[in-house]
Amino acid sequence: MTVDLRTRVDSEQTSVEAGHFFEEMLPPLVDAHRAKIAPGARELVLKDFCIETDGEPFTLCWNDDRVSVSAGNQGRVHARLTAEQLSDLVNDQSTPVAWMSNRVLDMPEGGLADFLNWWLVLRAALDGRRIHARGDVRFDRDIRQSFTPEDSDEDMRAFLEEAGYLHIQGLFSREEMAAVEADFPNAAAHFEKGNPRGWFATTQDGQEQLVRMEGFDRYSDTAVSLIDEDRFLRIGRIPGLGHEPRRASGSRVSALNKPIGVVKGISDVPWHKDCSLGRHSYECCSMTVGISVTGADAKSGQLRVLPGSHRALVWPAPAVQPGIDLEPLDLPTQTGDVTVHLSCTQHMSQPPVERTRKVLYTGFAQKPVDVEAAEKNRQRLNAVRSKTHTSISQEPGYLGD
Ligand SMILES: [Fe+2]
Repeated sequence: MTVDLRTRVDSEQTSVEAGHFFEEMLPPLVDAHRAKIAPGARELVLKDFCIETDGEPFTLCWNDDRVSVSAGNQGRVHARLTAEQLSDLVNDQSTPVAWMSNRVLDMPEGGLADFLNWWLVLRAALDGRRIHARGDVRFDRDIRQSFTPEDSDEDMRAFLEEAGYLHIQGLFSREEMAAVEADFPNAAAHFEKGNPRGWFATTQDGQEQLVRMEGFDRYSDTAVSLIDEDRFLRIGRIPGLGHEPRRASGSRVSALNKPIGVVKGISDVPWHKDCSLGRHSYECCSMTVGISVTGADAKSGQLRVLPGSHRALVWPAPAVQPGIDLEPLDLPTQTGDVTVHLSCTQHMSQPPVERTRKVLYTGFAQKPVDVEAAEKNRQRLNAVRSKTHTSISQEPGYLGD
């Protein structure tokens, strides 16, 4: 098992024209991948779905265990796309979740759930990936397990590949975390309202609070020195795939301060995969690492994960796909612990109800095959991400880290 799930490179984009795609390209693909589509599709509600691209409609139907494609609108569900959106969908550069998050999902009939069910079929056809069906993801071990820094890379790798996450206890000391926490107010002074690198949320008392500081590393030498130490960099070596620190200097660390009782804005993120906005087949799996500056549990904003979901083609957001057989797992942490999740492992953070929480996020990524082309497309995705926290509230949720 490997966590390198990439199947595409950015320099090889398929040019997409709606008529050609629906009449020539898609029908043979759904037939060729029928064995990967049918078992999962039987467990989905697939209503006849019209995708209209710049006024040109085609309808997808699921009948007698197979997908058919026909011209015109015979759908009970209807989505209107631009030519660019269709191209991004086919090339896995964007997703219906991204469009919904940016409020450009145009569905006169039906809703996101209908689109996502068909999105699974399209991904299976386009990527040759099997839609998850009950019983597909099995575990050879207890997937509720924590590690310590004394455990071997090999043990952690085997667990990560199977479960999609790691909990490493006590990687940092309480003193180190206290030093990082002391940098929070100093850094906060640099994030005025309107700074796109600062996220704000309103709590029940009407107060607007800074909940996320992107680029915290600019203001915390302590955080930088800790993530530059080998005991931390070692995490990137665990998958054995050459993962490197993901972000450039000045945007390496996000610092989150999670208040209680958020009523507006995004602080606690509902269920999502980090690839839910697109680019799964170019980048997965990257790793996101959470450093518990303060501990977390069910009452103080803990992370929850869906073990095994990185191995399953399922809804990437905004909820755990209805009816699937994967079980969420709580990840309580102590101060100084780290959590690692793969970009394909579905996860969420629970809103704190008793105690606030502070956590740092940073990560590791695989090096793209074509760095320049990847950067260009990644910037388009980042433009979506950067708007998400201002365009939507807690539901359906921010979909980055
Ligand atoms: Fe995330």
